[in-house]
Amino acid sequence: MNLVLSEIFRYADFMKILVAGGAGFIGSNFIHYLIENYLEDEVVNFDKLTYAGNLENLKDLAGNARYSFVKGDIADSEAVEKVLKQGIDVVVNFAAETHVDRSIHIGSRDFVLTNTLGVQTLLDAERQLGTIKRHVQISTDEVYGSLELEDARQFHENWPFQPNVPYAAAKAGGDLLCRAFFKTFGLDVVVTHCSNNYGPYQYPEKLIPFFIDRAMNDQPLPLYGDGKNVRDWLYVRDHCEAIDLVLRQGKAGEVYNIGGHFERPNLEIARLILKALGKPESLITFVTDRPGHDRRYAIDASKIAKELGWKPRYHFSEAVKETIQWYRDNQDWVNRIKARAKGINAHLV
Ligand SMILES: NC(=O)c1ccc[n+]([C@@H]2O[C@H](COP(=O)([O-])OP(=O)(O)OC[C@H]3O[C@@H](n4cnc5c(N)ncnc54)[C@H](O)[C@@H]3O)[C@@H](O)[C@H]2O)c1
Repeated sequence: MNLVLSEIFRYADFMKILVAGGAGFIGSNFIHYLIENYLEDEVVNFDKLTYAGNLENLKDLAGNARYSFVKGDIADSEAVEKVLKQGIDVVVNFAAETHVDRSIHIGSRDFVLTNTLGVQTLLDAERQLGTIKRHVQISTDEVYGSLELEDARQFHENWPFQPNVPYAAAKAGGDLLCRAFFKTFGLDVVVTHCSNNYGPYQYPEKLIPFFIDRAMNDQPLPLYGDGKNVRDWLYVRDHCEAIDLVLRQGKAGEVYNIGGHFERPNLEIARLILKALGKPESLITFVTDRPGHDRRYAIDASKIAKELGWKPRYHFSEAVKETIQWYRDNQDWVNRIKARAKGINAHLV
């Protein structure tokens, strides 16, 4: 009975969804999720194609009448207005500069332009158009700052914003604008804060794919500081399900935390990857800690569990094996990215 009702809901409620930043890691997984699960929905992928954007992630959708791509910048008001006028019903915004190290070592300007000004540009265009039914803003637990290892608390949705790195500060700016557009203009906006994602199509500058690639090539795995910094790990497929629920059933103006219930020190993640690949722990090397390096993130995801019935389906031990296998099977994908990364991401090549 439930199945039938949910099918009716799906068909009765079909939408044209703008996925901003859909050529990146989570965005491309989310587009696949939508196309597979909603037979009527249409998806427009709006992406600037920065170094992190990769249309290869979506090449299986070429020729699919329900998927289209528009190249554009979320901070460009004309381009945004034009794409929204393609009959878009809802917007899910993944577009961002996402690499913390780059926001420290290369510069934070692009981070503010996309993560803060880009969000303002999107929201303003949506408000002026007046036909967009919902904006879902994908944000991060990093806006909440850092917890000590021995602190038993977890970040809840009302936790104060205390970002410690430019990436997180720029994301916090976008989140606060979402709140303001809801309060001031009544725009239907929902914000999500997730923990660290892993899975297929993640750009290999990020910890898990970076370590998998290094280990496969018998290269050292550099760990910042003492390696004891703790992150919560969320499988991207679980994250997509959560975002989809928030999009369709979340309450306007609300914030939802999304976590994987799997907090582990980075050192343990490195060991686990080495073990899975049959490589020695001697590949682990400790390097000077990153400035502003948050010690621990911990997400309280009880609100989304209680209100929308979401919880992660995948356990890390299985999902990370699948992820490692994906990177083994797709070494050409990684190598093409590494070839393009010369001069952009020096540590990748
Ligand atoms: N990956 C994680 O673990 C994680 C954790 C917490 C939050 N998030 C958030 O999730 C979202 C997606 O992260 P991801 O890991 O998929 O990132 P990603 O770096 O893999 O992809 C970002 C995408 O945004 C596009 N983009 C960048 N600037 C743009 C602009 N101005 N206009 C249009 N497109 C632009 C890029 O081309 C790329 O396709 C981000 O908002 C990020 O802050 C990610």
